[in-house]
Amino acid sequence: MSDIKNYISEHKDRFINELIELLKIPSISADPAFSKDVLRTADAVLKALKDAGCDKVEICETPGYPIVYGEKIIDSNLPTVLVYGHYDVQPADPIELWDSPAFEPVIKPTEIHPEGAIFARGACDDKGQMYMHVKALEYMTSTGNLPCNVKFMIEGEEEVGSESLAWFVPRNKEKLANDVILISDTGMIANDIPSITTGLRGLSYVEVEVTGPNRDLHSGLYGGAVANPINILTKMIASLHDENNHITIPGFYDKVEELSKDERAEMAKAPFSLENYKNALDIDAVYGEEGYSTNERNSIRPTLDVNGIWGGYTGEGAKTVIASKAYAKISMRLVPNQEWEEITQLFKSHFESIAPDGVRVKVTPHHGGQGYVTPIDNIGYKSASKAYETTFGKKPIPQRSGGSIPIVALFEKELGTKSILMGFGLDSDAIHSPNEHFGVWNYLKGIETIPYFYKNFVELSK
Ligand code: BES
Ligand code: MN
Ligand code: MN
Repeated sequence: MSDIKNYISEHKDRFINELIELLKIPSISADPAFSKDVLRTADAVLKALKDAGCDKVEICETPGYPIVYGEKIIDSNLPTVLVYGHYDVQPADPIELWDSPAFEPVIKPTEIHPEGAIFARGACDDKGQMYMHVKALEYMTSTGNLPCNVKFMIEGEEEVGSESLAWFVPRNKEKLANDVILISDTGMIANDIPSITTGLRGLSYVEVEVTGPNRDLHSGLYGGAVANPINILTKMIASLHDENNHITIPGFYDKVEELSKDERAEMAKAPFSLENYKNALDIDAVYGEEGYSTNERNSIRPTLDVNGIWGGYTGEGAKTVIASKAYAKISMRLVPNQEWEEITQLFKSHFESIAPDGVRVKVTPHHGGQGYVTPIDNIGYKSASKAYETTFGKKPIPQRSGGSIPIVALFEKELGTKSILMGFGLDSDAIHSPNEHFGVWNYLKGIETIPYFYKNFVELSK
């Protein structure tokens, strides 16, 4: 496998161009206006898998967007790696904040990526990272370096909660049977500090609606005499955290996994500069739950955040009005042992109970999922760790992420195997934000590292 580096330098322009073509299709799963594009992307992924050497490829229909499936089975006695990724992307909004159009990829250098980064929605999350696996497969099949069986399962609804995949997996256990699941849809600490994601947070996402009077009112004639839904909603939301930034929902912390002193000390060893963190975000102080470090706050602790809030008059100039309704979208990031459906219920009961007389409250759950942790003493983790050691020249650090891929917990429940999260993105790659990008170096490093995972996994499975 010493030829992987040569293979990459010989084909790297094509690897980059193929990804750029994929990034041109606006596969926004959240917005039905793009449904044709989402379907077109599934077809493009299917073709890419076929070209990379899969001998069976399939568009698997679901109640929603299809799952793209591909496989190359070389020997039923050998282990099987199941690769998961997603071909859908987040909406590009707010589009006016992009320096170049979200679906017209360009390569530009950045401070962190002096060799260039591909700017486009989905560049890092997750088209770029998913495509590394397709190109790694191409290398392995075309050079006789595929050491085991491989299956691909690429979905088109990750960014909207993976509902169709949750439908598909239990119905296709045989087809998806595997020895390990391999995913690149997370990040690493820095290009010179490789890390492997060992945990993901769970999620409960709800929308709330507060209704006051039956119509919008003149804020002079009625102001002060009836409940203003926006005033009430903001007050209710503010009460969800106490002065120590603990969440006040009764029972919210009951099942939270508490880490031991040793585990926390181990976590604190990961390289981290608070100064750089603040500088990168242009903030003069960090903010969060009392008693926990920044890295703990965004990984091992649960949170509650308003993602959007609206109501009343937001147009030009001033309009004096008391709105009839106010709304907010709220996400709760959960940690191991918290049950997302139970947390959704706790939120609902609490939110309804704190509504004062004079308003009505409606809580609508959106989607959610369980958190995930993987131990580091299994052959999957060891295979990944050894692969990074080979290509980065350094042992990667295990690190829990604050993000969520809710379907991963379901994979373990339904298919009985662990997922290994080999992410090659950086936090600064601006996923979900304007100007999302993925370092060309990271893209190629991923392609280089993945085949070593397969090799190590087969060796350690013996
Ligand atoms: N790839 C991300 C999750 C991620 C990113 C995990 C970086 C760890 C590090 C994924 O596409 C995502 O955005 N997930 C959503 C949840 C989903 C249900 C919409 C998230 O975390 O907000
Ligand atoms: Mn993703
Ligand atoms: Mn995402």
